[in-house]
Amino acid sequence: MSSELSIFFLATMVFFLPVFGSAWAEEEVAGPGMPVELRTEYLRNPLGIDTKLPRFSWVSTHSERGQGQAAYEIVVSSRPEVDEGDLWSSGKVLSSDSTQVVYRGKELLSGQTCYWKVRVWDKNDRVSPFSRVARFETGLFSRSDWRGKWIGGANQLRKEFRLEKRAVRARVYICGLGYYELRLNGRKVSPNVLDPGWTTFDKRVLYVTHDVTNFLVEGKNAVAVMLGEGWYKNLALLFQMNIVLEDGEKVEVVSDSTWKGKNGPLISASIYNGEVYDARQETPGWDRPGYDDSGWAPAQVVNGPKGEISAQMMPPIQVVDTLVPLKMTNPKPGIYVFDMGQNFSGWARLRVSGPSGTSVRMRFAELIYEDGMINQENLRGARAEDVYILKGEGVEVWEPRFTYHGFRYVEVAGFPGVPTVDSIRGRVVHSAVEPIGNFACSKPILNALQRIIVWGQKTNLHSIPTDCCQRDERMGWMGDAHVTTEEAMHNFDMAAFYTNFLRNIRDVQDEAGTITDTVPHIWGSRPADPAWGTAYPLIAWYMYQHYGDKRILEEHYEGVKKYVDYLRTREENGLVKFSYYGDWVAVDKTPGSIVSSFYYYYDVKILAEMAGVLGKKEDEKLYGSLAERIKADFHKNYYNPETRAYANNTQTANTLALFLNLVPENARGGVWGNLFDNIVYKNNSHLTTGIIGTKYILDLLTRQGNSDLAYDIATQTTYPSWGYMIENGATTLWELWQLRQGPSMNSHNHPMFGSVGAWLYKALAGINQVEGSVGFEKLRIAPQMVRDLRHAAGSLKTVRGVVSSAWWREDKHIRLDVCIPFGSEAEVLLPRFNLQDVVIKEGERVIWDSQGFRAGLQGIVKVEETRGGFVIQIGSGCYSFSLSGR
Ligand code: BGC
Repeated sequence: MSSELSIFFLATMVFFLPVFGSAWAEEEVAGPGMPVELRTEYLRNPLGIDTKLPRFSWVSTHSERGQGQAAYEIVVSSRPEVDEGDLWSSGKVLSSDSTQVVYRGKELLSGQTCYWKVRVWDKNDRVSPFSRVARFETGLFSRSDWRGKWIGGANQLRKEFRLEKRAVRARVYICGLGYYELRLNGRKVSPNVLDPGWTTFDKRVLYVTHDVTNFLVEGKNAVAVMLGEGWYKNLALLFQMNIVLEDGEKVEVVSDSTWKGKNGPLISASIYNGEVYDARQETPGWDRPGYDDSGWAPAQVVNGPKGEISAQMMPPIQVVDTLVPLKMTNPKPGIYVFDMGQNFSGWARLRVSGPSGTSVRMRFAELIYEDGMINQENLRGARAEDVYILKGEGVEVWEPRFTYHGFRYVEVAGFPGVPTVDSIRGRVVHSAVEPIGNFACSKPILNALQRIIVWGQKTNLHSIPTDCCQRDERMGWMGDAHVTTEEAMHNFDMAAFYTNFLRNIRDVQDEAGTITDTVPHIWGSRPADPAWGTAYPLIAWYMYQHYGDKRILEEHYEGVKKYVDYLRTREENGLVKFSYYGDWVAVDKTPGSIVSSFYYYYDVKILAEMAGVLGKKEDEKLYGSLAERIKADFHKNYYNPETRAYANNTQTANTLALFLNLVPENARGGVWGNLFDNIVYKNNSHLTTGIIGTKYILDLLTRQGNSDLAYDIATQTTYPSWGYMIENGATTLWELWQLRQGPSMNSHNHPMFGSVGAWLYKALAGINQVEGSVGFEKLRIAPQMVRDLRHAAGSLKTVRGVVSSAWWREDKHIRLDVCIPFGSEAEVLLPRFNLQDVVIKEGERVIWDSQGFRAGLQGIVKVEETRGGFVIQIGSGCYSFSLSGR
């Protein structure tokens, strides 16, 4: 192994250590290990879920390879000891399911705490220990559980109350719109910020449940809520606190006109424009009992939103990270510019001391001019400015509550004295989805690409997937959402997040079946551009493929069908041609109608597949044959026999036709020829695609055995390419292939071109599911060992456990380490290159040589020679394969 390679090897071993570590640690105990990662509705120990039949999942490990779950037993109890299943005892259920397992016990009531544990049996009927106890708690199932009224009138609301005894259990159910900050007895109750999530408020508003037992005291208590207008553009609070005292007595505190209100230091707060906060107007002690609020007005009872009140069941927005500025400069007298070194979403925390009334202004920007001043031109109508007015008492530390910015640079003006690097911290704010993927390889530009994809993706999760996080937009643009879904699912646990987003989509659907370009709908049109509306069927289908989530299909089947039926009413010559954006921001434009027609076919095909999964035979047939008919019309409409290409022969036009196999056998050669010519000769292995073509083109090339070309494209550093962005200093993906910095549309943090992120995992690390597999049950590990790539590694926490694949290549030697989750199986593809007398080993043992497959090693079912290499069939567990030859 060369020294360069061994450094990669070491780095990767550290990277994968947790995976191997746990497998080794289990080694001593024979049989299945204790199930871990217990989740309810995809969440860990959730509070306030309003699903009456929640689903459970867990992950198991095993000391042996080739093992899987043959049975499970779940016990659900109202007591933390879970000694008996007074709510549900499933008994031993013969099933390999470890995810999407539906609760089948006693009917759950509002506000009920349930404890559960699980154990599993392996294929040899050996039982695991019971898991540790997990918990979930139901929220408020019905509107009548809410006894309070919507109140408002001021951005600070408070209420005092007495408890005669100690509280043994207390929950707050709160919906504070646009955003709320909840305080009890002087303390902020939770780390959530910008809560609750953004919805179509007239259809559905989200409430959040907080366990406040430890915040309450015997005697006097005070609850205080600060409100900001957020996307609701108004102030409204609905509050319900249910308390159980030590003697069993129940007490409620609810929002009503007995609350008091007064506008506090928050002078204005707007998502685009920022926050103005006058600390002189603070009302110290207002969040504690005993505060004199005699001068405050009674809270006003307000109408509140019309939507149904539903539980927020996804990771909340939080301050996920704190960044230290790289440097501070002083481009003009009194103006200081902090470079955070990274484009991200959030705000700055200011540390300052000075005379009362001093006003410090912070302006945020992604870009900087040559003279060192910030460039806000591309923010369009968003002012992105926070103002803090000092109270003048020692060191004051402040950060805003009800706004966020997308930025790398912070300009500070009006600072009393000279700031230092410690005057500012960057607060990274986004939906706190769990990172679950890792990718790295021997090509630095691709590691840089992975990095900017991940930063761009996470900083555009703000309870909905946003297009960008800086200018006057930040919308749930549906096109951007679906092209990034697969990438996001590889890098983060997105299950609960998209479950909510799909509901948001359903909320915008009208009687005619139409949906909208943005969800919630503010910008763009109704009906959505078909290439945007397709987010509805596509994201539902990705949820099914990735997480095995059948309930999502059940929940949205009628909605998707209604949407497809609407599209049918828009047919022209058998196709759907209306389009607003088409292959958005492409270098070479493709007619929008072919893009819309492609998605019309895609949507119908997915609907037919959904019908198949749900056993709706008639629909499956009906939409299946509709899809066939559209396929034929697609070819008839867009194929030009003279050019042997589709539409205007762009990369995107031919890619779309090939990607969904819309090209008849006899035309395929010509279309491929055109696509290659275009990429290789006309564009020197660069893309000219917009966000739509980009989503599919590398996958298509890889599927067709042209990973080398896909790799050439992915590693370009000249315009147009991802590398071009990186070479020009991008720390998140740009909206455009072009480098622009003026007042036009050119966001520097737009995740949509990050669809390539899924390709890194699938092609280079080689982690795939076999066709038809869902929830990573049947894997296909097929790393593409292309060109000068010497090493790649990827790992992914799936619903069944961690999948990992890491390979290293030298002249006559390949090593491939893989881990397959308990209960999953895999086919592993090793290329042969041109080697003779190939010997394949697993660890030190030969499993293939001139005599063929050598059976006998646990977990290895067989090895077969194929045209280009070898296929190794394996069961669960970790393996280290090597292939050498002459
Ligand atoms: C957004 C996009 C979006 C597009 C639709 C833009 O303003 O930022 O990302 O998909 O509009 O045309």
